[in-house]
Amino acid sequence: MQQVFTKAMARNIFLGGAGFFLVIYLLLAYDSFQQIPIRDHAVNLTPSVLRGKYLFDTNDCIGCHTVNGEGAYYAPELGNVYKRRGPDFIKAWIRSQPSGAPGRRQMPNFHFNDDQLNDVTAYLQWLSNIDTNKWPPNIEG
Ligand code: HEC
Repeated sequence: MQQVFTKAMARNIFLGGAGFFLVIYLLLAYDSFQQIPIRDHAVNLTPSVLRGKYLFDTNDCIGCHTVNGEGAYYAPELGNVYKRRGPDFIKAWIRSQPSGAPGRRQMPNFHFNDDQLNDVTAYLQWLSNIDTNKWPPNIEG
């Protein structure tokens, strides 16, 4: 039997393959849009969390730290710091900077009042409850 690969066959393979993977792509995109609100739990963005994020952004914490692996690699990961350290440690830590410990990298003092400390901690708590599929793999970044 003579086998000929015709133009029509090539076209059908191309169109069939493109259509098949387009359907897979659309299903995965649909699944992502279902998962994102569950994983980022945006419903829990309270006013306190939003004020904390504002403080976090305007004081450039990300200029030294990472959040979920993104940011600067000068200082530890903060996406999970609430779970690693807890609220009391975080507040005491931010209040007591810079540590002045010889040989250690230093963090500035931001002169936050108690409300601001609560807000930043609320933001770090919200971050720590995002389902990141255990990212980053090294928990201290
Ligand atoms: C100039 C760089 C710099 C900036 C900006 C900075 N940090 Fe830090 N931060 C550090 C360093 C360095 C350490 C670790 C110091 C050490 O281990 O002795 C640290 C540690 C921490 C820790 C303890 C982490 C752990 O794993 O124990 C927390 C919490 C923290 N920073 C929060 C913040 C917040 C919130 C901001 C913004 C308001 C901020 N940092 C801004 C440098 C910085």
